[in-house]
Amino acid sequence: MSNLAAIIDQFTLSATQARDIAGAFAAAMDDGLAGRPSSLKMLPSYLSLPTGDERGVYLALDFGGSNVRVQEVELLGGGRWHIRRHTAAPLRDPAGAYDHTVATATAEELFAFIAGQIAAVADPGTDYLLGHTFSFPCRQTDASHAELLSWTKEIKTAGVEGREVNGLLAAALERRGLGRIKPVAVINDTVGTLLAAAYCDLAADIAAICGTGHNTCYYDASRAMIINMESGNFDRLPLTPWDDALDAASERPGAQRLEKAVAGRYLGELVRRVAAGLGHEAGPPLTLATEALVGPGVPAPLREIAAAVFTRSARLVAATFGGVLASVDPAMSRRHTIAVDGSLYEKTPGYPAALAAALAEILGAKADLVSLRLVKDGSGAGAAIAAAVTRRQPRPCRPASSPGGC
Ligand code: BGC
Repeated sequence: MSNLAAIIDQFTLSATQARDIAGAFAAAMDDGLAGRPSSLKMLPSYLSLPTGDERGVYLALDFGGSNVRVQEVELLGGGRWHIRRHTAAPLRDPAGAYDHTVATATAEELFAFIAGQIAAVADPGTDYLLGHTFSFPCRQTDASHAELLSWTKEIKTAGVEGREVNGLLAAALERRGLGRIKPVAVINDTVGTLLAAAYCDLAADIAAICGTGHNTCYYDASRAMIINMESGNFDRLPLTPWDDALDAASERPGAQRLEKAVAGRYLGELVRRVAAGLGHEAGPPLTLATEALVGPGVPAPLREIAAAVFTRSARLVAATFGGVLASVDPAMSRRHTIAVDGSLYEKTPGYPAALAAALAEILGAKADLVSLRLVKDGSGAGAAIAAAVTRRQPRPCRPASSPGGC
């Protein structure tokens, strides 16, 4: 076996390994729910699923990685919504003027910047309820209050860990004279994706992000609540020496082992490390746009490595979905829609197909009961739905030109 073939072999996940991972994942879910030690945090969202008839105009803040997005969302009922206005800004200025993600940046600076983005979208004369998609592990005490447990995705801003993020946001809005905007819900992006999917699809009960980061949530019928698993931290995985080296060089060695093997933030770096070991120059980490790595024009060995790393990502994620299904519906007695958002899933050629094929392999004859569905921008609409579900205070509905939804 050539060097390259031997390496690719190490990144190849067999059907048996995928089934074993599914079983270990289901066991980790049980442990986490029962309060036993587990790599799955199983964080309660304090939110149930929407009816699909929530209505009104809300602000949605999406803070999940490199960009902050703000949307004014009108929920129209009947599973439809309309984005009336929106803005997006990077947390790190590409021209170097500011960087709110480094350890020398403070919570106050970061949230002042976010309040500025909100000001750019909010109508000056309107009072708003705001739903905040905050895509990091949080301990929630109710649907509106969440304390950041620890940063992920290599963000290091000082003074946010251990603090209640909607409190920081509300204080920044007050300081900017925007006290009429009330953050009433804080959700993980997976939860937002599930809320957006369930707004128009009764079978939606699992949602994942396959983008810069990775995570999955599900609706726990026995608790009548969506649970954010923080599955990126799952660690019972057959990983390689390259995964270990990447982990050792990361911000938080030992943490987020699944995420470091599957998410866009890390896949380019993983490919670069493997290729460099074989003497192939793959460029510095940041030039590796993940979607570009599997496309034409990439040298053959590099493309083979990338294909193996990306396929493994899809198969690992599918294995965890198999674990969730085994836990929520062991007999596979009903239909399930798994909503997926994120650039890796949306933009990597072959990724959704590899994920679907691996899931079908795990589920066998019951695979027809499960649909995977791309739910784009669910975290914006999802945050608005969260705000509506939290308050259940319908607001006047204005006619919309081009409704979205599903
Ligand atoms: C975070 C999760 C988030 C996921 C996808 C992870 O790094 O810990 O909270 O859902 O990324 O954005």
